[in-house]
Amino acid sequence: MAAAGSAVGLGNIWGFPTQTASNGGAAFVLVYLVLAFCLAYPAFMAELVIGRHGQANAVSSLTRIANNRWEKRFGFLVGFGGIVCASLLLSFYGIVAGWMMSFAVEPLAYMVGLDNVAKWVVTNDLYRNVLFTVLFMWLTIAIIRQGVQEGIELWSKRLMPLLFVLLIALIIYVVTLDGAAAGLKAYLLPDFSKVFNPKLLVSALGQAFFSLSLGTSVMIIYGSYISHKENLVSLAAYVTLIDVSIAFLAGLLILPAMYVAQHQGVQIFSATGELISRDTLVFTVLPALFKGMGPIGLLISFAFFALMSIAALTSSISMLEAPVSYAVEEFKAERKKATTIIGIVILAFSIVIALNFNLLFGFVATLTTQYGQPIIGMLCCIFVGWIWHRNSILTELKQGHENIERSLFWKIWPWYVKFICPVAIGAVFINSIS
Ligand code: PHE
Repeated sequence: MAAAGSAVGLGNIWGFPTQTASNGGAAFVLVYLVLAFCLAYPAFMAELVIGRHGQANAVSSLTRIANNRWEKRFGFLVGFGGIVCASLLLSFYGIVAGWMMSFAVEPLAYMVGLDNVAKWVVTNDLYRNVLFTVLFMWLTIAIIRQGVQEGIELWSKRLMPLLFVLLIALIIYVVTLDGAAAGLKAYLLPDFSKVFNPKLLVSALGQAFFSLSLGTSVMIIYGSYISHKENLVSLAAYVTLIDVSIAFLAGLLILPAMYVAQHQGVQIFSATGELISRDTLVFTVLPALFKGMGPIGLLISFAFFALMSIAALTSSISMLEAPVSYAVEEFKAERKKATTIIGIVILAFSIVIALNFNLLFGFVATLTTQYGQPIIGMLCCIFVGWIWHRNSILTELKQGHENIERSLFWKIWPWYVKFICPVAIGAVFINSIS
């Protein structure tokens, strides 16, 4: 549940629809689905199995597998790179999560008659951004300080199905509105000529790794928390399936909603057909949809953005856990102190991003999600494929899956992470720069 909680977050409801809308619609969806199952899932397995074997943070888990000094250095680099990547990710993630929280406050403020507050919390104001980022980061820090992840797990278990139901209900509603058909077409009918577009491929790969929280050491840590009785192969498959389904549903809601909003006169595309506000797209489209519902829209808007804030929280705590668990295990730092110091440093960086939004936001997001995560994820595959002894992997995987040796998974996966994943991920990058 914690791994699913980490995976399902803003990547699904904000990242995926935004990327789909800015990368050619259905062609992006198609490539995303292929890459999520064919590259992200095997890489996800690699990270989980490294973690469960190592029973520790990413750096220790990786160096424990290494056989000599050079391999240990490589392991350190991959693990530490992941931790840095998770921390950088959190610095921009906190800003978007802050927007989710502010949009959850808006309907509440209207309900109690604080109209001015309601208007302010959804304006793109610097103080609003900073205030809600601080609030969100404070919550993240408080949870990691207390180590109350169990409570959060329980909540995500209850709330995730609710998010699922709400998405389905909203999709049913949106497709009955004028303009939705054009959105469905854009979302579901791919233009095959765009499929091999280098920019689309890198974006889809980055999005798949972002959504499954890969290349950040997070899944290595979560792997270390998984019991040896669990079957890792099916566990990873479930998490991938849940994560991809929620992203797909979010797109099925937001793409049609975009066209409905456009039909109602909201400007979504510029005269040249470009998206006007990429990063804030869902915050334009969804409120327009909720407004059209009348008074009940306030309640639905609150439910939706509150659920999203919680989904973001179950992801952000996993990001903060990455540097914290390293500091605690490696330097014997006191947990509460380490959490506060690291959390505040990341928050300070978030504020720098908020102050220089146009300059830094897109840059940090692209650097971490499109480059950092897939590259570190690829290095984890190389670690499993080339450094870790096959028999030792098998012994690890056998725990929780007695007959794995005879399964199709074992016939394909070791060979697959050794050759196909690194080559395919490398090819996407070479393609994008050439
Ligand atoms: N997977 C999370 C999401 O979709 C984001 C995340 C990335 C969480 C990396 C942890 C590490 O929102």
